[in-house]
Amino acid sequence: MRIAIVTGASSGIGREFVIQLNKCMKTIDEIWVIARREDKLKDLKEELNNIPIRILSLDLCKKLDIAILSHLLLSEKAEVRLLVQAAGVGYSGRFDERTKEENEQMILVNDAALVAVTKVVLPYMTNKGNMIFMASASAFTPQKEFAVYAASKAFVLSFARALNAELKDSGVTVTAVCPGPVETEFLEKCNGDKGEKPVKEMVKVLPEPVVRKALIDAKAGKDISVYGMPMKLVHIASKILPSRLLLRFM
Ligand SMILES: NC(=O)c1ccc[n+]([C@@H]2O[C@H](COP(=O)([O-])OP(=O)(O)OC[C@H]3O[C@@H](n4cnc5c(N)ncnc54)[C@H](OP(=O)(O)O)[C@@H]3O)[C@@H](O)[C@H]2O)c1
Repeated sequence: MRIAIVTGASSGIGREFVIQLNKCMKTIDEIWVIARREDKLKDLKEELNNIPIRILSLDLCKKLDIAILSHLLLSEKAEVRLLVQAAGVGYSGRFDERTKEENEQMILVNDAALVAVTKVVLPYMTNKGNMIFMASASAFTPQKEFAVYAASKAFVLSFARALNAELKDSGVTVTAVCPGPVETEFLEKCNGDKGEKPVKEMVKVLPEPVVRKALIDAKAGKDISVYGMPMKLVHIASKILPSRLLLRFM
């Protein structure tokens, strides 16, 4: 069975990936959608009627749930054509204001779970394929009051690029997607009552064009996808300016 897998499919960017794949991916038999909130995944499934959707209500921080995914891939003799990893969490604020659990959750979901899912899925990408990892423009430079999140996304960017190079001759590509602020539930959860900083509010975009560009860049085998001029400029600045200076402005 030829499949696409999307984690973080219950909202925001992951959900948008499923909607766009449902329209454009003609060569797959099923899209497997993963998140904890089953009701949201059911709502999504009801909206779409092109490609069959399989709901997997899993907590990717739980080893048992990763094992369930692994078992299912084996029992269905899956051939994974596309893996999108959009599950993620972020909490802004000074490091000493965030709880131990919040800090751990960012590393567990954004990094440990992403690596675990990659390890389980890769053996099933036997006939070429694309992996898309949601990193962030926060990966480009350390960020005050977003320290753990930015570091967790620097991990994703570094991992994606190294894996893409390792898999060069295998037909499997890995693309790290690095948007700035995107209008989703994420921003609300991230900032709580404080709201978004005005400069981030100004450069905020919708999920739709970010996902469209990510799919085009993945198909072209690019190891990084950056949507929009403001984030492209941040990317360039991160390569030429010293971290000390960037830390003052970011
Ligand atoms: N929005 C932005 O401004 C922005 C900018 C740059 C990068 N990103 C990155 O893009 C990705 C998607 O973000 P988004 O904006 O779409 O956020 P979102 O709307 O909050 O979606 C996050 C998704 O992750 C899932 N998730 C969280 N913890 C999980 C767990 N333990 N197991 C399984 N699924 C889990 C959530 O589903 P359940 O709660 O149902 O489990 C949800 O579907 C994230 O990696 C984020 O860091 C976002």
